[in-house]
Formats: sequence, structure tokens, C-alpha cells
Amino acid sequence: MGSPPSAHKRRRTVGGHLLLLLWKSFLLRKKQWILTLFEILLPTALFSVILFLRLLPDSNFIPVNVNQTTVSPVLNEYSLLRNVCNGLVIGNTCQFVPDDIKKRVHMFYAPNVSFAADTAEYLATRLGWPPEALVAVNTLEEMDSLVEQTYYSTNANASASVVVGLHFKDLPEDQSLPNALNYSLRMPGLWATAAQYPFFQLPGPGNSPDKYVNNGFALLQSWIDRLYISKLTGNMSYMDGYKLEIESYPYPPYTDDSGMSQIYGTLLPSYMILAFVLLSPSLIKNIVHEKETGVRVRCLSNNVE
Ligand SMILES: *[C@@H]1O[C@H](CO)[C@@H](O)[C@H](O)[C@H]1NC(C)=O
Ligand SMILES: *[C@@H]1O[C@H](CO)[C@@H](O)[C@H](O)[C@H]1NC(C)=O
Ligand SMILES: *[C@@H]1O[C@H](CO)[C@@H](O)[C@H](O)[C@H]1NC(C)=O
Ligand SMILES: *[C@@H]1O[C@H](CO)[C@@H](O)[C@H](O)[C@H]1NC(C)=O
Ligand SMILES: *[C@@H]1O[C@H](CO)[C@@H](O)[C@H](O)[C@H]1NC(C)=O
Repeated sequence: MGSPPSAHKRRRTVGGHLLLLLWKSFLLRKKQWILTLFEILLPTALFSVILFLRLLPDSNFIPVNVNQTTVSPVLNEYSLLRNVCNGLVIGNTCQFVPDDIKKRVHMFYAPNVSFAADTAEYLATRLGWPPEALVAVNTLEEMDSLVEQTYYSTNANASASVVVGLHFKDLPEDQSLPNALNYSLRMPGLWATAAQYPFFQLPGPGNSPDKYVNNGFALLQSWIDRLYISKLTGNMSYMDGYKLEIESYPYPPYTDDSGMSQIYGTLLPSYMILAFVLLSPSLIKNIVHEKETGVRVRCLSNNVE
């Protein structure tokens, strides 16, 4: 019985405090009206400039309607291989890779068993990489650290190297084929896979699918899978008779406005909140200042009496 009235009372006092604070703020602002005027006019002017930028006839910020679906070209295996081949593509194999390129390619595979070694060797042959490019390691952690080390130590030079890491999980120790294929493929520096979407998303087709396709990742993935199927079925036609064809998912019509909608939608509200947050300390400072000086004046007058 006792608690509802007290809760009600507390709510009313909170409301009362807010009203009192606003009234106090109003009184303080009335006293410093020039400052208040600036505080109102400056943001208004700023927002008007932003609005004006969009209204100017030849502005970059005018939204452009892309009223057609954006369709990417279909890439076949030949063009995928040509994208990553520094030599000549002959019969779905990269050949005549220059010697200086051959020094800059590395493939780390794990675990050190024949299935992984054969797969890595096959990939290297198709890519035109020399046998020295292949390094066997034992664990996923070892492979990951070697891949990163090699990538970051060699890519300080202008001529970037290509590093591939390949780890198969749960491979049988003997020479037999695994029942299921579970593997990790690493190609550092190509595109970020940690997040599904970019942090700051703009309307329009993204460009990371192109990296997935053009830097050989999709190709290697398909080769590994098809090689495994061929070995499992004992029919190499699954490797050579089927070819990968890949196309980015079409992007629907959109409005291209150089990210302005995103700025309006996310940055401006944040700035508004910040502006209000920064306003209250100055109000509190003013009130405290007034209270302090007021109290001091009364003390003084008491002393005088
Ligand atoms: C697409 O836009 C162009 C000009 O921007 C316009 O001429 C055309 O009619 C539009 N097409 C459709 C289907 O809206
Ligand atoms: C991988 O295995 C081969 C032969 O089985 C061996 O010679 C080589 O030292 C092994 N490499 C590693 C890193 O264990
Ligand atoms: C990178 O440059 C350094 C110094 O010029 C050289 O010693 C090193 O071999 C180069 N690495 C590669 C992978 O070219
Ligand atoms: C493959 O391995 C990963 C990592 O250990 C595991 O999370 C995943 O469930 C495995 N997938 C299958 C189909 O076994
Ligand atoms: C291999 O597979 C293809 C089709 O996928 C089939 O036509 C061919 O007969 C198979 N060859 C053998 C030896 O099984």
C-alpha cells in the first residue's frame, strides 16, 4: 500500500525537477541572449549549407537514380585462371610463369599426409607454381601463423607475393581418402571475411565479390572440391569435364548519392545527441555558479548583520 504513492511522488518530483531545470535554463539563456542567438543560428547556417550543397545544379551530391538492375558479367574458368596467371593459360593450366614471380608464391598445407600433399601439388601445377612453393606443416595454427608471417614480411616490398594456406580437418592417417571434406583455405590480404557486410554500407553493388572471384579464391575452392570428387569416384572427368562459371548476384535499381543518405541517416542524429549532451554541463555549471555566488552573498550579508 505504501509503495505506489511513493513511486508516484518520486515520478512527479523527477518531472518537477526537469521542468525546474528547463525553466532555469530559459532564465539563464534570457540573460545571455547573444550567446543563445549564436547557438541557434550557427547550426541553422551549417545545416543550410549542407542543404544548399545538394540543391546546386551541378553538385556531386545530387542523387543519381540507377533505374536498372546492375548485372555483372559471367566469368568462366579460363578468365578466372587468366586473372591470377602471370604466364600463359594453355589447356586450363598456367604455364611459362616468369622466374621472379615463381619466387613470390607460397603455399602452406597441413596436415603432412598424402591427400593434402597431392591436392596442394595439383593446385600448384595448375597455377604454374614451382614445387619449392609448397611447404608442409602439421597443424592449422602453424599454417595460419606461417601464412600471416610470410604475407606480411614479403609484402613490405612493392612486388606483393601470393600466399595460400590450405588445411584439411580430420584427414585419415593412412593413404585412404577422407569420407568428408572439411578444409580451411587462406589467402590473406584479399578481402575481409570477418564481417558479413561492410561497416559503412553504401547503396550499390559492393566490390568484395570481385575480389573473391578475381584473386583466385573461387577457382582454388572449385578445384579442391572437384579434385576430391574425382578421386572419390575414380573418374577424372569430374575434374576436367565440369567447369566453374561464376557471376555476382545482380544488384537491384538503387539511388546513388555518394553516401549522403548514410550521412544524413547516421552521422547527423549522432551529432544532434552529442550537441545536447554537451549542452547540459554548461547549464549545470551555470546553476552551480549562481548557487555558490548567491550563498556567498547571503553569508556576507549575515556577517554584516
Ligand atoms: C531510367 O532513367 C532514364 C533517365 O534517367 C529514363 O529516361 C528512363 O525512362 C528510366 N527508365 C525507367 C524504366 O524508369
Ligand atoms: C612431411 O612428411 C615428409 C615425408 O612423409 C617428411 O619428409 C617431412 O619432413 C614432413 N614435413 C614436416 C614439416 O613434418
Ligand atoms: C624484400 O626486400 C628486401 C630488401 O630489399 C629483400 O631482402 C627481400 O628478399 C625482399 N623480399 C622479397 C620476397 O622479394
Ligand atoms: C568443419 O570444421 C569446422 C571447424 O572445426 C567445424 O566448425 C564444422 O562444423 C565442420 N563442418 C563439418 C561439416 O563437419
Ligand atoms: C565419368 O563420368 C562421366 C560423366 O560424369 C561419364 O560420362 C563417364 O562414363 C564416367 N567414366 C567412367 C569411367 O565411369
